Amino acid sequence: MSTRPYVIASAAVSLDGYLDDTSDQRLLLSNEEDFARVDEVRAGVDAILVGAGTIRTDNPRLLVRSGRAHPAKVTITGSGDLDPAANFFTTGDVEKLVYTSAPAPVRDRLGAVATVVDGGRPLDLRRVLADLAARGVGRLMVEGGGAVHTQFLTAGVVDELHLAIAPVFVGEAAAPRFVGPGRFPPGRLQLTETRRIGDVVFMRYHLGQAARDHRRLREAIALAANCPPSATFRVGAIVTDAADRVLATGYSGETAPHDHAEEVALAKLGDDPRLASATIYSSLEPCSARASRPVSCTQRILDSGIPRVVFAWREPDLFVDCVGAETLRAAGREVRELPDLAGLVQETNAHLPFRT
Ligand SMILES: NC(=O)c1ccc[n+]([C@@H]2O[C@H](COP(=O)([O-])OP(=O)(O)OC[C@H]3O[C@@H](n4cnc5c(N)ncnc54)[C@H](OP(=O)(O)O)[C@@H]3O)[C@@H](O)[C@H]2O)c1
Ligand SMILES: [Zn+2]
Repeated sequence: MSTRPYVIASAAVSLDGYLDDTSDQRLLLSNEEDFARVDEVRAGVDAILVGAGTIRTDNPRLLVRSGRAHPAKVTITGSGDLDPAANFFTTGDVEKLVYTSAPAPVRDRLGAVATVVDGGRPLDLRRVLADLAARGVGRLMVEGGGAVHTQFLTAGVVDELHLAIAPVFVGEAAAPRFVGPGRFPPGRLQLTETRRIGDVVFMRYHLGQAARDHRRLREAIALAANCPPSATFRVGAIVTDAADRVLATGYSGETAPHDHAEEVALAKLGDDPRLASATIYSSLEPCSARASRPVSCTQRILDSGIPRVVFAWREPDLFVDCVGAETLRAAGREVRELPDLAGLVQETNAHLPFRT
């Protein structure tokens, strides 16, 4: 089981790396269109976390504008020096969680407006994340400020970093920086997207295991180009070992017309002991029931013992309802969905009558 949510750290920064200036007014670094992008990301997560400093300085509401379901709100504080009348607590009919290293006094102050949770003393980010996962948070967006970004990045618990670079200088040494000093993940991050949004540049990076997953899943999706025209869904699959070495690949229709990509790849491995610590990447959610064969790919993955499954596109209910991800999770397997790559899979399956 995954012990923490998938974490997206998101910030807008000036050209000289600041999150804000020192004035009382909040410095608007994003433009309107970029705020809409941030809104989209918010709409796709289960919870948003900001540090207590950001609540005190910016008094953010942290709601989704577009009328979709609001994510839960989360903050961390040692002092508990937060105003119960702050927008964080008073807006949005959602769960508000306060993790603190001093639960008793913080509960006295904020217990009426939020759920106050003991985060350990000193506050332990991994404990906070494990607790969020246990509360059903699968995707967490961390929106700053600098103290929070520094800690999440140096703790190695960020999977994606979203940076919007605004065309302004701040130039004040006392202004809050995106990150302070610390031991950050070594090496170069994997740049997975750049986008011009008006006068702002948006950059997306993947880190650590998320970077490996992103790269391997793209490769699996590309394998679908080999599928014969007879394949209904055009799917690619890759099985890797614990050190990210490729053990086997497969694509739909590779060896027989009704073959699914996952079963092709698994058939090449038999009962290889390396499956016990392997990951299977598939462009599509593994099927849980199928018209053409008695054994689903979900069942084959369960039988293989593979502990991790990563896929891009949740199977549309075209032919049969798919509960592959749910079934695998219920059996204790770690399931990662990378919806950002679903568009690529849809392109390779444009012949199917699905609606996005
Ligand atoms: N441009 C952007 O995208 C963006 C986004 C967000 C914020 N900001 C800016 O960032 C600035 C705020 O950043 P910041 O670094 O001052 O504050 P912050 O990171 O939002 O919050 C820091 C506070 O969080 C609590 N905290 C953090 N780590 C903790 C730990 N390990 N244990 C216990 N409590 C912990 C502490 O609260 P207590 O002091 O209560 O103990 C600490 O003072 C503001 O100027 C805001 O405008 C910009
Ligand atoms: Zn299948």
